[in-house]
Amino acid sequence: MKLLAPSILSADFSKLGQQIKEVEEAGADIIHLDIMDGRYVPNITFGIPVVESIRPITNLPFDAHLMIVEPEKYALDFIKAGVDMISFHMDATIHSHRLVDLIKSNGAKAGVVLNPATPVNTLEEIIHYIDYVLIMSVNPGFGGQKFIPQTAEKVKKLILLMEQTGRTDILIEIDGGVSKENINYLSMLGVNIFVAGSAVFKGDIKENVKILKQNMSI
Ligand code: DX5
Ligand code: ZN
Repeated sequence: MKLLAPSILSADFSKLGQQIKEVEEAGADIIHLDIMDGRYVPNITFGIPVVESIRPITNLPFDAHLMIVEPEKYALDFIKAGVDMISFHMDATIHSHRLVDLIKSNGAKAGVVLNPATPVNTLEEIIHYIDYVLIMSVNPGFGGQKFIPQTAEKVKKLILLMEQTGRTDILIEIDGGVSKENINYLSMLGVNIFVAGSAVFKGDIKENVKILKQNMSI
């Protein structure tokens, strides 16, 4: 399964609704929502009211990437606001397993996020319970950063762990510095969900989505 998930962090917020419709019409598969609290990461973005107001605009699934401390406090509110997938950073919460349980029992898909310096073996236990893994290919906090090449090795290690644990059904999402140039390579490595902010919203949105989707198919 290959899915393109534009991150609205790079959208023009003065015409957010319009740009979401534009990516949907162009063939995007998921809307990626970067939620930052200024504590877990050195940046603040948007929260539940914004998610609620854009929910009626599109039929695409919403994927909330929570870059917030104590994500367990807000996960349910995001689900109620219409989010279909929630990922959180394991070091932002004390009880990852409980949070995965909360997300799944409320009908959303649960994912965990690995920062560039977080080893894949952190997932050894939680892998049995999650639906997807989000591998950060930049340090979380900002759009428009450069892809960290070592990430490719992490994808390979994750696939190995998935095979060892019999969880080859887990989806692999990659986030940060995804471009028209590297998306095909990432797809060949086995990535399923491609988050792209600047590669979608800088320039001609429709054309960007078209090329990214073409290049991600193998
Ligand atoms: C970074 C965010 C990313 C970011 C991606 O913290 O999680 O989703 O918006 O932006 P680009 O694709 O521009 O690297
Ligand atoms: Zn993200």
